[in-house]
Amino acid sequence: TGPLTLPRTVVLVGLMGAGKSVVGKRLAQRLHVPFIDADHEVEKAAGQSIADIFATLGEDAFREGERKVMARLLDGPVCVLAAGGGAFMCPETRRRVKRRGISVWLRADLDLLVRRTAGRGHRPLLNQGDPRAKLESLMAQRYPVYETADVTVDAGEESPDTTTGRVLDAL
Ligand code: S3P
Repeated sequence: TGPLTLPRTVVLVGLMGAGKSVVGKRLAQRLHVPFIDADHEVEKAAGQSIADIFATLGEDAFREGERKVMARLLDGPVCVLAAGGGAFMCPETRRRVKRRGISVWLRADLDLLVRRTAGRGHRPLLNQGDPRAKLESLMAQRYPVYETADVTVDAGEESPDTTTGRVLDAL
């Protein structure tokens, strides 16, 4: 088959540890479009790390920055966009994604998310209290919203290439 042309930005949603960045990079390669990590764009815009934004400005300020970054990126050239885990919870962002993109939820179970996020200090939401309990409550809050994504792909134990293949099949 010839090269695929991607008509819309693919927006990867899902919890921390679902593999949005790893799968996103591979997907972008396969689709011949840039990969953009929304968290990284928020950090660039703020001139500080996400952990520092949370610590000095607070979560609300982070969410506002995230909303603006998502709006800008969704107005830009087609790409594969890894959204931060909370980005899709913003109704305005969801509307923009509906208009300009295809949303793909990388669904993973709790054990996997706990394992994949263990021992990495850069996620402020998991730095207080028990990370498993926090992930569990985020699942309860967010899965009903992630479920409204255009496509759901199981991002289980298999390799990122397998998950990437599943996303390509589903697009
Ligand atoms: C968050 C997820 C993080 C980052 C921030 C908040 C969340 O992104 O945006 O720490 O609310 O789930 P990743 O899902 O890329 O880790």
